[in-house]
Amino acid sequence: MGLDLQVPNQTARLTLRPLREADVHDLYAYHSSAEVHRFLPMPAMDAEALAARIIGGRWSTTSIDKEGDAAFLGAELRATGVVVGDLMLRYVNDEDKCGEIGYVFNPEFAGQGLATEAAHAVLHLAFDELGLHRMVARIDPLNDRSRRLAERLSMRLEAHLIKNCWMRGEWLDEVDYAILEEEFAALHDAG
Ligand SMILES: CC(C)(COP(=O)(O)OP(=O)(O)OC[C@H]1O[C@@H](n2cnc3c(N)ncnc32)[C@H](O)[C@@H]1OP(=O)(O)O)[C@@H](O)C(=O)NCCC(=O)NCCS
Repeated sequence: MGLDLQVPNQTARLTLRPLREADVHDLYAYHSSAEVHRFLPMPAMDAEALAARIIGGRWSTTSIDKEGDAAFLGAELRATGVVVGDLMLRYVNDEDKCGEIGYVFNPEFAGQGLATEAAHAVLHLAFDELGLHRMVARIDPLNDRSRRLAERLSMRLEAHLIKNCWMRGEWLDEVDYAILEEEFAALHDAG
């Protein structure tokens, strides 16, 4: 089992591809916002911190070889070449073939279904290329937009975990949305 995401993945409007140094400007446009980072584990970032993540840091990983690996992709709007969001695919567990999806998009481009389009493609990669059995999205219960996105992806609300995460100096609840490979395939077959 393994996945190399160096090769760009095309959706209707986006190219999903590895992040590169030249993307710092586009990423800064939203990752510098405390509002965008409100429900994320790390605080908003300056350009230097973003560059460190992209150049040799966590977000430079684009292959998944073993459990625990997380790959990161930029979502480039093909019409303009602007990176409007980024996504994570984590290979959580080898034995249970379980993975996790994460996504952050620039609010300037919200409300067009771009995050849904990109996340859908990441689920495809997880199930069809990586061979996973179950994908989960771990969400702060107050994060309505993320919950709606998971629902648009036909992910099922499976758990509400009480004070499960130590984040931003306090214990926070988490809701888990999940979808199985056969459910995703059935949706796809149904068109
Ligand atoms: C979570 C997040 C990616 C969702 O972004 P989003 O803009 O709501 O999602 P999409 O790009 O898929 O757009 C969906 C909206 O576009 C509308 N839409 C328009 N065209 C659409 C299309 N072709 N397909 C799907 N939705 C479409 C939908 O109805 C929906 O509208 P709504 O906001 O009124 O419900 C974004 O809020 C974000 O980045 N938040 C900050 C980071 C974060 O919290 N990440 C999640 C951590 S768990």
